[in-house]
Amino acid sequence: MTNDELAALVDTSNEWIVQRTGIRQRHIAADGEFCSDLATRAAERALADAGVAASEVDLVIVATATPDNTFPATAARVQANLGMTRGASFDVQAVCSGFVYGLAVADNFIKAGQAKTIVLIGAETFSRILDWNDRGTCVLFGDGAGALVLRAAPYGDDRDRGVLSTHLHSDGRQYGILYVDGGPSTTGTAGYLRMQGKEVFKLAVQNLADVVDEALAANKLTGRDVDWLVPHQANRRIIDSMGRKLGLSREKVVVTVDRHANTSAASIPLALADAVADGRIQPGHLVLMEAMGGGLTWAAGLVRW
Ligand code: ACO
Repeated sequence: MTNDELAALVDTSNEWIVQRTGIRQRHIAADGEFCSDLATRAAERALADAGVAASEVDLVIVATATPDNTFPATAARVQANLGMTRGASFDVQAVCSGFVYGLAVADNFIKAGQAKTIVLIGAETFSRILDWNDRGTCVLFGDGAGALVLRAAPYGDDRDRGVLSTHLHSDGRQYGILYVDGGPSTTGTAGYLRMQGKEVFKLAVQNLADVVDEALAANKLTGRDVDWLVPHQANRRIIDSMGRKLGLSREKVVVTVDRHANTSAASIPLALADAVADGRIQPGHLVLMEAMGGGLTWAAGLVRW
């Protein structure tokens, strides 16, 4: 759906959306196409790329704020769709930070020896929780899914490769500035996304700067060591401010927000998939991911690809 198509629904314009957000279009799931469908397709492609059979997977994690149903977890449906008859599955809910939260969970499961092969998926159908009469929010989001296969490896030649560290934060005092006004325990309905955009913007820039510093310091690295910044794709202005903060040239920042809009937990794996597919991210590169979302939650992860 292009900005011009949106302008036929609400009082907005391509110029306004591009100038404030950098978004030019977003994808919308088809009628009858669910979060689990997008998640399954992403997982199948990731497994094929990795050369890993679904039967080898010990754990399926789906980061999502828009599950098919209140329960079971969307991950359970994905597990079945992949033809898996063993292993475990669950969802992680940290909204736009969900993929980095999921990366932390997966990394810790592997380091603790509780799983060897994990499929981590970020999948969302935000179009279903948007108030299509609210131009302040409906122009910002889209649907999508991306996936990553993580595998335990013995220490050896590749000992520097993998997840270096993850850093998670939340501040529940900010619950009300970005939330959905429904849910099984409150209204019994799915509800719609509500946001105080300016407040979110301000806190995003501050919190993301802090958590990126924390991730680099924990690994005794600086912005100059980063090969690729793969940020959560919420808004071009937030992304640019993080790139500037790290002293990275624009080419070192992976941007897909123009094509996907904000796909919440799916945005980082979609951006990773782009930059891996076109050869930008290469084995051995240092990849920095960061995200902020409802909660508020925010997080960063450093990966030696
Ligand atoms: N089209 C045209 N005009 C609009 C639209 C629209 N889609 N939306 C709002 N406006 C109008 C407003 O009504 C207002 O008009 P007024 O001055 O006559 O009252 C004017 O534009 C300015 O509105 P603001 O909300 O003050 O605009 P702002 O410059 O703050 O930009 C935006 C809004 C883009 C939402 C910005 O606040 C933002 O990017 N916030 C971050 C939110 C975000 O990214 N959230 C994603 C989830 S969290 C995350 O992933 C980090």
